[in-house]
Amino acid sequence: MWKGEFMNNFYFQLPTKVYFGKGQIVHLGEEIKKYSDNVLLVYGGGSIKRTGLYDTIKDLCVQNDIKVYELPGVEPNPRIGTVRKGAALCKEHGIGAVLAVGGGSVIDCAKVVAAATKYDGDAWDLVLDSSLIKEALPIFTVLTIAATGSEMDRGAVISNPETNDKLAMFSSLFYPKVSILDPEYTYSVPKGQTAAGVADIMSHAFEKYFTRVKGAYLQDRIGEAILQTCIHYGPIAYHEPENYEARANLMWAASQAIDGVTWRGNEVQSTAHPIEHQLSAYYDITHGVGLAILTPVWMEYILNDETLYKFVEYGVNVWRICPDKDDYEIAKEAIAKTKEFFKSIDIPSTLREVGIGEEHLEIMAKKGSHNLQNAFYPLDEQDVLQILKNAL
Ligand code: NZQ
Ligand code: ZN
Repeated sequence: MWKGEFMNNFYFQLPTKVYFGKGQIVHLGEEIKKYSDNVLLVYGGGSIKRTGLYDTIKDLCVQNDIKVYELPGVEPNPRIGTVRKGAALCKEHGIGAVLAVGGGSVIDCAKVVAAATKYDGDAWDLVLDSSLIKEALPIFTVLTIAATGSEMDRGAVISNPETNDKLAMFSSLFYPKVSILDPEYTYSVPKGQTAAGVADIMSHAFEKYFTRVKGAYLQDRIGEAILQTCIHYGPIAYHEPENYEARANLMWAASQAIDGVTWRGNEVQSTAHPIEHQLSAYYDITHGVGLAILTPVWMEYILNDETLYKFVEYGVNVWRICPDKDDYEIAKEAIAKTKEFFKSIDIPSTLREVGIGEEHLEIMAKKGSHNLQNAFYPLDEQDVLQILKNAL
């Protein structure tokens, strides 16, 4: 299984224009104006009002003669009902652009609003089958939390509470036209969300690091650098929320972890993510927390003679474990260090700690194991069920 699978052919394009750093928001108005005279401002539960970002953006829009409509109240783990509301507003008022100000939830919601506005049927159809997306409004983002990388990627994840589905979808029309990445906007992120964001960034790096493709040396080293950035700066941002250097490095790491630079084609299915999406679908927990609980358990589960080499690489290169040690000793120490790291930034380490019991494990294993036969270490429904049980 591990032989002869070298770096695949791939297609790579990053169409998002990024303005990174302090005060870069000054460019927002002129950039939106290139596309539209009005915009749907999409935001969450109110953090942008408390930080003053809301007022700054409204002022910029006034200065650039851009009429603003609003979709407030996007939930963490954004829901299809909110997407429908946003698309209805855009259709009713002839809105020509969407501006997401917030984290991954707000950005993902805005992306699907942008596509649903140009679609005659129900927005959920697009979540189920993104090939139906033929057109979308231009998308702009102002990022306020370092985590998902949605500000620079082609993905969106939407929940349907009626069916307990949380589904990832992809479209090249989802790449934002422009993203403003000002690390100062993340100073106000609460400690728990800061830690969860770090876990999410690391998980995105893991998803492309633990792959059976060999010979992608550069991508692996970039992945390790992203992991080390999180390990170094995560605790600093956690303890010193206004440390610019830490916030800036985490913000850029978040974008780089998922924008494709660490990928080598679409040959490997992510593992922790589809399983975690079931946890947040059924229990509405924070995505990064679910990932931090599952990741070390998944690592322990798949560690064997076939996968050992990758854990050794991880332990030696990321955690600087002495390469002279026995390979299994290195691998187990690396997994233990991963677990300790998440604990050190106070992320829960068991499902029970976040209110998850045994009641939905079977159905979550069924839904979460879809496609995992193509993962780094192939898993079936029974494997996923065991991982969930081990995580309790
Ligand atoms: O809603 P507000 O009031 O803004 O508060 C949010 C929210 O409660 C708060 N927050 C964000 N920035 C803040 C802040 N509070 C104070 N100050 C700030 N500067 O943080 C809370 C969480 O926000 P959310 O947007 O949910 O966080 P995140 O960026 O982690 O997004 C998570 C969602 O993205 C999906 C996840 O599954 C989840 O639904 N993902 C999206 C991906 C993508 N598009 O590529 C990939 C990921 O793997 C992930 O699945
Ligand atoms: Zn994620």
